[in-house]
Amino acid sequence: MYVCLCRGVTDGHIREAISAGCCSYRDVRNVLGVATQCGKCACQAKGVVRETLSTL
Ligand code: FES
Repeated sequence: MYVCLCRGVTDGHIREAISAGCCSYRDVRNVLGVATQCGKCACQAKGVVRETLSTL
């Protein structure tokens, strides 16, 4: 599922970034560029990051 349409980022991309070492929303944003354009996806992106980190 696409989380960020502007940057073409899916929830799968976010999970992969976290398994590759990202440990915060800020890391994920820096690596994937999620929420760096219109910003509308920020809440959802944060939610996916939080949910993924909580399962580790
Ligand atoms: Fe993510 Fe626009 S949808 S920055």
